Amino acid sequence: MDFRHQISLPGVLADLVCDALVLVVTGDAVDAALDARLAAALTDAVSGGDLALKKGKSLYLHRPTGVRAARLVFVVAGGASAKAFKAAVAQGLGQIKGLGAKHVAVALAGVGELGSAHAEALVCAAAEATYLYRHTKPSAPAAPGMSKLTLVCAKADAKAVQEGLVRGQAIAGGVTLAREFANRPGNHCTPTYLANQAKKLGKEFGLKIDVLDRKAVEKLGMGSFLAVAQGSAEPLRFIVAKYDGAPKGQAPVVLVGKGITFDTGGISIKSAADMDEMKFDMGGAASVLGTLHAVCQLKPKLNLVCIIPACENMPSSRAVKPGDVVTSLSGQTIEILNTDAEGRLILCDALTYAERFKPAVVVDIATLTGACVVALGHHHSGLFTADDKVAGQMLAASEAALDPCWRMPLDDEYDEALKSNFADMGNVGGRAGGAITAAMFLKRFTAKYPWAHLDIAGTAWKSGAAKGSTGRPVALLTHFVLAHAG
Ligand code: BES
Ligand code: MN
Ligand code: ZN
Repeated sequence: MDFRHQISLPGVLADLVCDALVLVVTGDAVDAALDARLAAALTDAVSGGDLALKKGKSLYLHRPTGVRAARLVFVVAGGASAKAFKAAVAQGLGQIKGLGAKHVAVALAGVGELGSAHAEALVCAAAEATYLYRHTKPSAPAAPGMSKLTLVCAKADAKAVQEGLVRGQAIAGGVTLAREFANRPGNHCTPTYLANQAKKLGKEFGLKIDVLDRKAVEKLGMGSFLAVAQGSAEPLRFIVAKYDGAPKGQAPVVLVGKGITFDTGGISIKSAADMDEMKFDMGGAASVLGTLHAVCQLKPKLNLVCIIPACENMPSSRAVKPGDVVTSLSGQTIEILNTDAEGRLILCDALTYAERFKPAVVVDIATLTGACVVALGHHHSGLFTADDKVAGQMLAASEAALDPCWRMPLDDEYDEALKSNFADMGNVGGRAGGAITAAMFLKRFTAKYPWAHLDIAGTAWKSGAAKGSTGRPVALLTHFVLAHAG
């Protein structure tokens, strides 16, 4: 993310000096308060049939007469909510992508006020639109970059907007970081790489970072995490990062991110089609590091602990076998019926490890189940918690961040499916309600603190032509964490 942002108070919009002006049209008629020259252009476009004032319609004009901006884009938003605004901005930026506009200005044309959520949404939309993965593809054409982004707002809104821009910058930076980590292939983004990146963050922001290796994890007794890691020659890492923004005694928020840097399925091996996408199986870990980065920039008064169990899930002669029974750090035994249900096996030991911090709340984030994708598709992350207060906080954060999640059930009846004749539990519960039984498995390790689980299997990355990481749910998590500031 390499653009600066600023606020501009409205003078005559048509005289605003910039390379591109994106006007977000909110009403269903040309607004009487709009500058005469812009109103004339808009009226002309509407009456000529070139632009319908319907949500999702847009029009690009090059060197419009009477307007200082070299490029003008009208985007019809259909409303003035932050969500509608973000979608319109994204569309407007799409229209001018690759056209060489360095300084882009955005303004509202029509009814509605800009608040901090709009400003945050603007920065996030701009970062999203300009991100380009280059690490293993340096030949990718460096897009002629936007270097300056201006939001035109009324004086009365300036304070809230400025606050939103700052928060947006931090969140967008975290999202970009998470995208970059998750996009890097499994042979680049290894457990060791993730640990080194955490250490780098620690240096930059003065955080305490602990990285445990296999020996240390063995000594602790993380039999479940070890079972997943044992099939790979790539060494495991158990990463703990602490941000101390409040006095020591204050109970921390703890985030736990699934860090499977590649998931072959192990002995219960996956089919070949799309297996490459399992490099994204550390998306939970990436979102935790992205959130940590955002929090470090915003410096809220709270304590945050980030925990990442990181390893590969590989088949080999040393790999864990279906039917093997392991003892987790909690002392509970697990019959590993399917080695492809490995996420819960590394998370359960991390969740037990989290107890030592006497957390105010623990949230784990994981690309956990294909079943969650079937249930919710690619729009909402799955939210699982037995705690109504935490559920309310998560849903509020997700709404404020425009990063949606949907609460799923966690009733005791679902626990039946995990029964095993050979251990305290099996690691899978059958096809039906697979996202829920996965969450029920995790729930067995979280009795000592309020807890929520986010299944981001459907939201952490995109498939198809736009294949790549989304950086979700960094925005949701950052809002959730910030809400705990004293
Ligand atoms: N990482 C996968 C979950 C996943 C699958 C995410 C497809 C996105 C797309 C996870 O480790 C896994 O393999 N889960 C199994 C669980 C099953 C064996 C109970 C799944 O969903 O098939
Ligand atoms: Mn798996
Ligand atoms: Zn997995």
